[in-house]
Amino acid sequence: MSNQFHELKVKKLIRQTSDAVSVYFDIPANLNSTFDYKAGQFITLRLDVNGEDIRRAYSLFTSPSDSEFAVMVKEVSGGKLSPFINSKLQTGDFIKVMPPTGKFTCDTNPENSKNYVFFAGGSGITPIFSIIKSILTIEKNSTITLLYANRENESIIFADELNILEKDFESFNLFHILENPEKSKPSFKGLISSARVGGLLSEMGVASIENREYYTCGPGPMMSAIKQGLIDLGVGSNKIHSESFTVEGGGRDGGDGKRGGDFVGGGDFSNLKLKEPAKLTLQIYGEEHNIEIDPEETVTTAALRARLDPPFSCQIGACSTCIAKLEEGEVEMECSDALTQDEIDEGYVLTCTSRPTTEKIVINFDY
Ligand SMILES: Cc1cc2nc3c(=O)[nH]c(=O)nc-3n(C[C@H](O)[C@H](O)[C@H](O)COP(=O)(O)OP(=O)(O)OC[C@H]3O[C@@H](n4cnc5c(N)ncnc54)[C@H](O)[C@@H]3O)c2cc1C
Ligand code: FES
Repeated sequence: MSNQFHELKVKKLIRQTSDAVSVYFDIPANLNSTFDYKAGQFITLRLDVNGEDIRRAYSLFTSPSDSEFAVMVKEVSGGKLSPFINSKLQTGDFIKVMPPTGKFTCDTNPENSKNYVFFAGGSGITPIFSIIKSILTIEKNSTITLLYANRENESIIFADELNILEKDFESFNLFHILENPEKSKPSFKGLISSARVGGLLSEMGVASIENREYYTCGPGPMMSAIKQGLIDLGVGSNKIHSESFTVEGGGRDGGDGKRGGDFVGGGDFSNLKLKEPAKLTLQIYGEEHNIEIDPEETVTTAALRARLDPPFSCQIGACSTCIAKLEEGEVEMECSDALTQDEIDEGYVLTCTSRPTTEKIVINFDY
């Protein structure tokens, strides 16, 4: 479990669009292997904002073969951390950073001769940009098609960098879909619906649709439409890889399970199965702890209250940093998006969204 945060210095900040900034970090030589990563993975930033300890996940847009290590943060209006990073963070500041993790990756191999199709929306370009650069560097015989959805030309993040890649690599085909396109710049117009997926693929020249590898990252409704559209076209779900930055209805506001703050849930606890606190046994960092957990608390909140420093990042069930094994008892997961069905069947849970439904539960982080 790489839960440990390291203080990294902000090496430079580059404004990408009016509401998106790239943050480059200095990695000291002694931390090089700790911050090794696979293209598509994310890091967790931890900052004190107005006295509140905030953690958020950000995908690396650099790729392992780059000399830089950087994330791009798009400002979410009313958000706690992204506006701070966009307007207050300065070069030379130090930030606590958890080493890279995440399953939205691609097993690149020089021997591969694959046909990849990527669908990105807005800030969802970050892990996709990383994976694309990695494939272009390593797999000389593979081809890549990217459809990148944005509101308008000005909101396209990495526009210049993507154009350069398209010029440099014949195997990379770049397409844009814009809600409000400029007449002078060719692109598809509108939003991606499941019914449009087949037509868009054929207009981009993507043949043998079932044999491609698909990757998508962007707003929830866009990703759902793409997945449904691909499944309707006969693509197996094992060929569709996706990364969510948010979950449906997954606001963090008010869901503090009484005491923790900043966690999933809306505060309506009228349907809880338990009325009294349950017994929670936690196996973590090689030690066993026995604490109480209130019915409305998540396992992460209870562990934090007991000062056990559990691993977590997004707090909404999207990233799987908080994964643990449920060894005894039952929990209800408000959101399990970041788990595969196999993981759920094997007893893994997302502790940041899990509340107890039996009087005793045993959770193992050291599985
Ligand atoms: C695995 C992973 C990778 C991520 N990578 C990136 C990345 O590369 N670049 C990036 O900019 N963000 C990324 N995010 C999203 C990021 O972690 C934050 O959620 C985002 O910056 C908002 O944080 P905040 O504190 O500003 O807003 P919050 O205070 O968390 O949220 C404020 C409100 O905005 C809503 N909201 C939260 N996030 C979004 C969003 N992305 N779009 C629309 N509404 C939202 C919330 O539901 C809430 O109502 C990633 C998230 C995950 C889980
Ligand atoms: S912390 Fe991200 S899924 Fe729990």
